[in-house]
Parts: sequence; C-alpha cells; structure tokens
Amino acid sequence: MSLFPLKRFYARLMLSYLMVTVAVLGVIGIIFITLMERYFFSVEGWQLISRGERAGALLQEPLQQQDIFALKQIITTLAFSYDAYLVVTDKDGTILADSGSEPDRLGLSVEQSEVEHVLSGNVITKQITGPEFNSLFYMAPIYEPGFNPDDMRENEDDSVDSTGHVIGSLAISIPLGPIAGTIAGVTRLGIYAALGAVVLAALIGYSLSRRISRPVEEMSRVALELSRGRFDLRVTSSGGDELGQLADTLNYAVDRVAETIEQQRRIVKQQRDFISDISHEFRAPLTSLRGFLELMRSGKINPQEQKKYLEIMHADALHLSHLVQDLLDLSNLETQQITLNLEAQRPELLLKESLRHLQLSAAAKEIIIEMQEAEDLPAVVVDANRFYQVIVNLVGNAIRFSPPGGVITVRAEPDGSQVKFSVTDCGEGIPEAELPFIWERFYKVDKARTRTDNGSGLGLAIVRQIVEMHGGRVAVESTPGKGSTFSFWLPAEKWTQETAN
Ligand SMILES: Nc1ncnc2c1ncn2[C@@H]1O[C@H](COP(=O)(O)OP(=O)(O)O)[C@@H](O)[C@H]1O
Ligand SMILES: [Mg+2]
Repeated sequence: MSLFPLKRFYARLMLSYLMVTVAVLGVIGIIFITLMERYFFSVEGWQLISRGERAGALLQEPLQQQDIFALKQIITTLAFSYDAYLVVTDKDGTILADSGSEPDRLGLSVEQSEVEHVLSGNVITKQITGPEFNSLFYMAPIYEPGFNPDDMRENEDDSVDSTGHVIGSLAISIPLGPIAGTIAGVTRLGIYAALGAVVLAALIGYSLSRRISRPVEEMSRVALELSRGRFDLRVTSSGGDELGQLADTLNYAVDRVAETIEQQRRIVKQQRDFISDISHEFRAPLTSLRGFLELMRSGKINPQEQKKYLEIMHADALHLSHLVQDLLDLSNLETQQITLNLEAQRPELLLKESLRHLQLSAAAKEIIIEMQEAEDLPAVVVDANRFYQVIVNLVGNAIRFSPPGGVITVRAEPDGSQVKFSVTDCGEGIPEAELPFIWERFYKVDKARTRTDNGSGLGLAIVRQIVEMHGGRVAVESTPGKGSTFSFWLPAEKWTQETAN
C-alpha cells in the first residue's frame, strides 16, 4: 500500500527531484565543512606561530640570565592573555617554568625525541586530538639574545650552525574546543538549512511533477476511453511545451476517429434509408398491380371496367420501369461508371433540340415554353445526351408543377467562365424550408404524390450528379405561390481551352 504512490508517474518524478537535491546538498555540505575546518585551523595555526615567535623573543633575556622568577611571570601573563598553556625548558630539556594549570598535557603529547629535535634548532607544529581534548601545539627553540636564525637563512649561509646558540625551548598549547564548537554550530545551521531546502524541494517537486503528470494521466484516460468507444473526451490541460503538443495531437486524432466513425454511421444509415426508400417506392405500384390483377382473375368485372383497370395497370408498370431506369442511372452516375462523351456544343442548339421533345406534354396542358438566349454565347463542353436528360427533368418538373395555360421560360446566358442555364415556371413554388433537400434522392415536397404523375423523387438528384460531373453546379430559387427558378452552370469552351494551354 505504501509503495502504491511510487507506481504513479508524478511520485517517481518527485522522488528523483528529491534524490538529486539531497545528493547535491550532501556533496556541497561535505566540501563546505572540510574547507571551513581547514580554514579555521590554519588561521589558528598561523596565529599560534606568530605568538610563539613573539613569546620566544620575550624569553631570551631572562632565560640567558636564568631568571626563573621572570620566566614564570612572563609565561603566566602570556598564558592568561593567549588562553594557552606554556612551558619553558633549558637547553637540556629540563622544565624551568610552566603556566601551571595542566602540566601533564605537555608530558602526554611531547616525546623526548621531539624535544631533542627542537633543541637542535627545529620548530614543531601539530594538532593533538585526544578523547577529552583537542589542541594545537607549537614548540620552538629559544636562541641567545642577539642571535636571529632568520638572518642566517636570508644570507643563505647554511654552513652556520644555529645549534650552538640554542639556550632553551618554548612550548605553547592552545585548546581548540571553542573553534570546534563554532564549527559544530555552523554545521548544525547548515543541516537545518539543508533540511529546509529538502522540504522546499519536495514542495516545488510535487507541484512541478503534478503539472507534468496531470496531462499525461489525462491523456492516458482519454486514450483508454477511446479504446472503449467513447469519443467525446478531450485533453484539456495543455501548454506550449512538448506535452501540450502531444495533447493537441491526441485531441486531433480523437477528432478524426470520431469524424470517421460518424461518417461511417451516416453512410450505413444512408444505405439503410435508401433500401427502405426503394421498397417504399416499389410497394405502391406493386400493390395496385396485384389488386387489379386479382380483381380481373376473379372474372367478376365487365369489359368496360376491365379496359379502365388495364390502363391503370399499364401506368403502374410504366412507373415501375421509370423508377428502375432512374435508379440505374443514378447508381451509374454516383459510382462514376459513366464516361462522358464531351464535345463543344452551341447552347442555343442544345436547348432547341431538347425542348422539341417536351413540346407535346407542354401542349397537353396548354403551357407555353419560351426560350431566351443571350447573344454571343460561348460554346459549352458537354455530353449532349446528359444535357438532354437534365433539361427533360427540369422542364418536366416545371410542366408538372405549373397550372394549365402557364408560361415556362428557359434561358441561356454567359456567366464568367461558364454558361448559366435556367428554367423558370409560374407554378406553386417550394417552401423555403424544403429547398435544401429537394436535390436528395426520393425527396418530394408533397409526399402523397406518386405514380399519377410519374415522379420518382430521383430526377433532381440525377440532374445535380450530371451537372457536377461536368464541373458545374446547380441552384434553386423559389417563391411559394409565384413559381421557381432552377439554374445550372456548365464550363464554356473558350475557358476550357485556355486553361488547357
Ligand atoms: N418546378 C417545381 N416546382 C415546384 N416544386 C418542384 C419543382 N421541381 C421539383 N419540385 C419539388 O422537388 C421534388 C423533387 O423533384 P424530382 O427530384 O424531380 O422528383 P419528382 O419530379 O420525381 O418528384 C418534387 O417532388 C417537388 O416537390
Ligand atoms: Mg422530376
């Protein structure tokens, strides 16, 4: 249980911060304490040596005169002012005077060989560390008055023997207790500061680690939910750094996955709808056909009625074959299984030719079709048979939705690099809310309209498909009660040739 948080990313991150902090502090601390000790001890050492030299000079005269009382007085005064322990010996090493308090210290720490070493003209400095005391020790020879070994050293006159001038020795020992106390105090202070730094590092490390780990944890949660099929989660905590970029990338990926899935769902739904639409379209004429067939098979109808029923059945069969034809057309167009037979055509000739076939059904409703073509129309690049299909559908609709005796206007005019064709009727019009949908297959504003007027609801879908295959577009405007205008644009030949070069 106690190990659990360490499995978390942020905890491990924080632990590393702490370990680095402690390691750095430890190394710095050890270096600092060592340097501090060395500094304090060397300062103390230099001080001791200079004091020793001055005391030696003071003692020269009394020692020469064997004035024990004066010696005693001098070293007692020095011991008091230096807070040190002093001993004076004669040139044989016999103690002449000491500062009195703890004679055995010197006895403990100085060996006979060392005394002889000093009496033959050498200086000893050392640190004495014992279980109960810790002190610096200095011992130097005392020369006869007027003799200065430094003068000889300056003259580089090594041949002169200073031993003959030694008349005794001085030993000084000062306790290091106070310095050790100071060092311990400073060390304790350093440890407190280090502990504070560790606590501070822990706090900063925690908030820093959380800031880094939060997006990581959030991202892993989003990825997990994604694998479970939830696409609505996104990573919210991000920044300008690499983690922020990763979060953005993940969000983008989730978006794309959600989009693709949504698209697939839509396609599946469209296919399902399409099949149910087709079944629906087929059911009405088939039910009608079956009903009349059964009626006729029963033999209970007179020949006059029989002729009427056959007319209806013929219309039903025609409607079914139209439906199948339109479905095949649309499916071929949508799967691009049709190659367009593109040729440059004069728009006015195309229109005239197409309208010729529609005059008959227009005349049946006493409808007049007017043609208005602009002058200097450029040629259009088009498959003539497909163009004919478009016009038949648009003008066919116009005839169907116009009142008897109405006028339908068909126009062709240049529009930039294209030619705009439009079919305007004075029919019932289309409510604005329905306009965006009328290009969809099987869409009919009046759902009740079926076989009586041969509408399959596929005509406009076919029109749009054909126009877009030519690189054009379609549009519709309508005012309910006044009429509608259906337009489409096709690329002009001039333009096509210019861009081809
Ligand atoms: N000129 C028009 N005036 C009014 N409504 C129209 C016109 N042309 C098309 N529509 C509406 O758009 C629908 C779809 O047209 P279309 O795709 O040609 O199918 P269909 O003609 O078989 O009904 C029509 O059912 C009708 O509601
Ligand atoms: Mg139609």
